Amino acid sequence: MTAADPGAPGALADRGDPDPYPNYAWLRENAPVSELYLPHRDGTTWLVTSYDLARACLTDRRLSNDDRNATGEAAPFGTGQWDPARGLLDLDRPEHSRLRGLVVGAFSAGAVERMRPMMTRVVEEAIDAFAGQGACDLVPAFSLPVPVAIIHEILGIPGHIRESPARCLDLFYKAGLTDPIDTAALADLLGYVKHLAEYKRAHPGDDVSGHLIRGLETGELRDHDELAAMILSVLGAGHLTSVQFLGAAIFRLLQHPAQLAAILEGEFSWAGAINEILRYDSPVQATAYRHVTEDMELGGVSLARGDSMLISLAAANRDPSRFDDPDEFRVDRPVQSNLGFGYGAHLCLGAQLARLEGEIALDILFRRLDGLTLSIPFDEVVWTYGPMLRGPRTLPVVFSGTTT
Ligand code: HEM
Repeated sequence: MTAADPGAPGALADRGDPDPYPNYAWLRENAPVSELYLPHRDGTTWLVTSYDLARACLTDRRLSNDDRNATGEAAPFGTGQWDPARGLLDLDRPEHSRLRGLVVGAFSAGAVERMRPMMTRVVEEAIDAFAGQGACDLVPAFSLPVPVAIIHEILGIPGHIRESPARCLDLFYKAGLTDPIDTAALADLLGYVKHLAEYKRAHPGDDVSGHLIRGLETGELRDHDELAAMILSVLGAGHLTSVQFLGAAIFRLLQHPAQLAAILEGEFSWAGAINEILRYDSPVQATAYRHVTEDMELGGVSLARGDSMLISLAAANRDPSRFDDPDEFRVDRPVQSNLGFGYGAHLCLGAQLARLEGEIALDILFRRLDGLTLSIPFDEVVWTYGPMLRGPRTLPVVFSGTTT
């Protein structure tokens, strides 16, 4: 296989590929900087798959997140429908630092710890809703609604004006992560987020939206479009990713019951388990597009100004030059940072939140549901797979009872 084959990772959008990792391994070994075949995108796009090159790219100032530096087709949020308001992942410094600085404190370890009671309540309520049934699909019942509810709570968006979790995920996915993007979904999504921003201006609170609205008053946010772009960034990044993460975590821990038991008995930590899930099943498979701002060499390959790039965090996180036995799932691995939350200036803003949310959700789920097992063979679970995100599409389970 070559990277230009339709079977290469970048061409798999929406195909429901069960296991992209053999492709990643081939590319990492044979062409760690390889040209991607992307039928709906003009210009040249590269895929980076080795750990060292991926990490180096994530701090390379010659690579820009701003699609105005690309010769190829503009990224979704630069389509002119909502220009020039861009979210965090669409900007470089100094604009990126100005906007990130507005919200970074709201996602610090201390701030996130204060969200613990809210997160616990959301998780308990989600389980209460299906606890009496003895069977359910844990994606629509748990791994989807929990992160969607938590990120809306953090933004101070009350239940009565929220989209349903499934529609919320669908809109963000179709508007931002499919190739080509669904312009009707993009218009709906922008309408939804503008509505939320207007609601929050009329009903300000001591929440992340309130923080941002104060930024409008102090001049740190330029205008209402920028406010909506920030809400869009946090709302989207805060659930698209965690939905995949929770689904992958439940799948892997059910598949490795001895490791799960050791975690619940306190022999292994949730922190270690969460790190290993991020590494082994990287929910964000590849970063947002980067764009080359000057001709450069990377891994012996010449990249031209205006070329675009995807950095495969998933491939990097299974690189044998960085991780021993990378294809083995082991929650007791020695602590070693991986690229599951990215690296550099765009390192995940919600990393602390995602870790605590994961720990609370998984701990309560596995303690409350007795005899929890998957009701289909593990290899029949279909995983969603675009170039960017990956997680199980369904998780049908049975359980014998619940503990309150
Ligand atoms: C396990 C769940 C999560 C994973 C795996 C994850 C992963 C990532 C990754 C890899 C990036 C960098 C992308 C790039 O460089 O192109 C990122 C950025 C980001 N994440 Fe997360 N994320 C998760 C949860 C969250 C949550 C809960 C929030 C809520 C606030 C969040 C907010 C963000 C934001 C706003 C950015 C953009 C940061 C910037 O550009 O400065 N993420 N995330």
